[in-house]
Amino acid sequence: MSEENRKIPQHVAIIMDGNGRWAQSRSKARVAGHKAGVETVRSSVTTARKLGVKALTLFAFSSENWLRPESEVSVLMELFMFVLTREVKRLHKNGIRFQIIGDVGRFSEKLQKKIKESETLTENNTEMVLSVAANYGGRWDITQATKQVAEKVNNNELSIDDISEQVMNEHISLNGLPDLDLLIRTGGDYRISNFLLWQAAYAEFYFTDTLWPDFNEDAFKDAIFSFDKRERRFGLTGDQIKNNPE
Ligand code: IPE
Ligand code: IPE
Ligand code: MG
Repeated sequence: MSEENRKIPQHVAIIMDGNGRWAQSRSKARVAGHKAGVETVRSSVTTARKLGVKALTLFAFSSENWLRPESEVSVLMELFMFVLTREVKRLHKNGIRFQIIGDVGRFSEKLQKKIKESETLTENNTEMVLSVAANYGGRWDITQATKQVAEKVNNNELSIDDISEQVMNEHISLNGLPDLDLLIRTGGDYRISNFLLWQAAYAEFYFTDTLWPDFNEDAFKDAIFSFDKRERRFGLTGDQIKNNPE
């Protein structure tokens, strides 16, 4: 099938894993892998937009990554600040809306300010939404949504009987974007590492051994095109899907 006719996932998320091992295999410090990984972020954004993906969500730093050695955490924070400063104008020029999902309150004031500015600058862009998950955890996300809903019940804005999956959905990160279609993990492990627990309910999974800094345009295209071969049944039978294609 030609590239043009393939079904493209509307919302793709990536667990960008393997930076440390990439560096270690070259006898470099782990942070060299994070630096190399920045270039892959850049090319992935370009490729996703080119292929017509509507939302790209990248896992950059998990709630649990604070447990790493302090020196690695601080380099990651500096890198984050540097990349935001350097790349946001380019995102804006390409019509990309940028947002952070996660508990940003733990970041430095300076970084929080930069995040706000970047989100505001790009908020009306419509070509693609780039969400970066930073200090993000799927359990944190479900917990913060639950707190918001409980607050509404407390204020008599909502009754307990009104709490539904739809209401929860409205308070979970990434609400308003198309449902997650494809979740990619690089780096050879087969786990979700507390990423999008709620949102991944019906996502297709794609695992590759390729380490994140090596995940080039062709590798990303392979992942995206693999989606076309998946039969998404959403609980129905295969026959039901075949007799009633969307
Ligand atoms: C992913 O690469 C990036 C972050 C978690 C920030 P890792 O740093 O986890 O790389 P490996 O898994 O140790 O190779
Ligand atoms: C997941 O990778 C988090 C990010 C890619 C940001 P980790 O390397 O932290 O995951 P585990 O520890 O192997 O599960
Ligand atoms: Mg890892």
